[in-house]
Amino acid sequence: MEKQSIKVGLLGLGTVGAGVMKILKMNEEQITRRAGMPVEVKKILVRSLEKERPIKVDASLLTTDPEDILQDPEIDVVVEVMGGVEQTRRYIEKALQNKKFVITANKDLMATAGSELLLLAREHGRNIYYEASVGGGIPLVRPLKHSLGANRIWRIMGIINGTTNYILTQMNLQDMDFEEALKEAQLKGFAEPDPSNDLEGLDAAYKLCILAGLSFNSRVRIDDLHIEGINSVDRRDIFYARELGFSIKLLAIGEELDEGVALRVHPTLIPTTHPLAGVFFENNALYVVGDAVGEVMFFGPGAGAMPTGSSVIADLIEVARNLSHHVENGIMEMDFQEKAILPMEELSSAFYLRLHAKDQPGVFASLATAFGDEKVSLDMIIQKRSDEGLAEIVLVTHAVEEKYFNRALGRIQRFPTIKEINSVFRVIEN
Ligand code: NAP
Ligand code: HSE
Repeated sequence: MEKQSIKVGLLGLGTVGAGVMKILKMNEEQITRRAGMPVEVKKILVRSLEKERPIKVDASLLTTDPEDILQDPEIDVVVEVMGGVEQTRRYIEKALQNKKFVITANKDLMATAGSELLLLAREHGRNIYYEASVGGGIPLVRPLKHSLGANRIWRIMGIINGTTNYILTQMNLQDMDFEEALKEAQLKGFAEPDPSNDLEGLDAAYKLCILAGLSFNSRVRIDDLHIEGINSVDRRDIFYARELGFSIKLLAIGEELDEGVALRVHPTLIPTTHPLAGVFFENNALYVVGDAVGEVMFFGPGAGAMPTGSSVIADLIEVARNLSHHVENGIMEMDFQEKAILPMEELSSAFYLRLHAKDQPGVFASLATAFGDEKVSLDMIIQKRSDEGLAEIVLVTHAVEEKYFNRALGRIQRFPTIKEINSVFRVIEN
């Protein structure tokens, strides 16, 4: 008998859950047509039944008992928008064992347990869809899996955390301080429940694991990545970067080289003319270089209720169509291979360095010698007088293997004339 509707159990009714419910109502007719059947949310798991919610839902839909969803044989799809890893993983395992499809916006979970969960899905003839876990409303998972499937992808480079991009934008354009910008990002619903995941680069790192896996057809673990967040970015760095023709962005970068794969998340100076420099506020972008297609860039809102809800519902429509057309679920992630991971020391970058030194003869010469001895060539230097006989010096090197830059930096740190190394960031020219 043909299915009359697709029945959904929603885990979570926070920012993203509310977006999902709102879009289902707002575009009900179109979603029904595209899905080939009505989408019916049968139950919603929340922590508290009493909480005031930004969206009105029938109180009888709410439950605090996950079994009401996981054990309900009528529910076809579990949509997980509650976040967290351990408990959530158990819920998803149970949903798959009970032959439910799973849709998730949870990058922490997919990056840490995605392979095992996808394997379990295959064992039970089901699948997991996770478009919303990366890039909010921007389609990224589906294009990397399907539309760019003909390519060998060499490089992906992206702004994939909305909260930190929002903070860096406000610090740059409005001269806002860090704390105030973070508070705004939290109020707008972009930040994770624990914003340190955003600020320390972990959220972007989880997303890079997912994107790099799909791009390089490889199994990527969080420990394979070099991760730095934006806590070290000072307003003075933003000011100097601008003076030198750069913007500071938290970039997630994945590259496949002959010797292996290099994966990193760190604040980066990019020329203000680079397409990624024009990505402001919570917007995200992913710049992809493939051997057949050349350069492609995906851009759009990387966080927030409605954009993320839009990606969740796209997955829901795909599940419904597969169900009504009896499509078998191939899980392409099962073909992922193990690839060598390249250490940071062997990668090349230009570097930006800001430091405070005694304002006295010979300081510049000693810096130039330390860099020259380690084969690091200098590209730009600025010196500004500051208080108490100290000079603030900013310099940018030409591209160099990290190990040479680190050796030069180690020597400079030991000079008695150097009072403080304030910031070190990588610079990318293209
Ligand atoms: P949120 O606003 O904190 O909402 C979480 C929801 O899950 C709440 O309704 C909460 O119930 C419920 N919940 C959490 N833990 C629960 C538990 N143990 N048992 C029952 N219910 C529980 O979070 P969110 O911002 O919507 O994010 C949800 C997920 O989407 C996360 O994985 C996040 O990384 C991802 N994501 C978020 C965004 C975004 O822009 N916010 C974008 C992309 C992906 P109560 O309401 O009763 O507290
Ligand atoms: N906290 C995340 C961000 C939400 O700011 O990008 C979207 O995944």
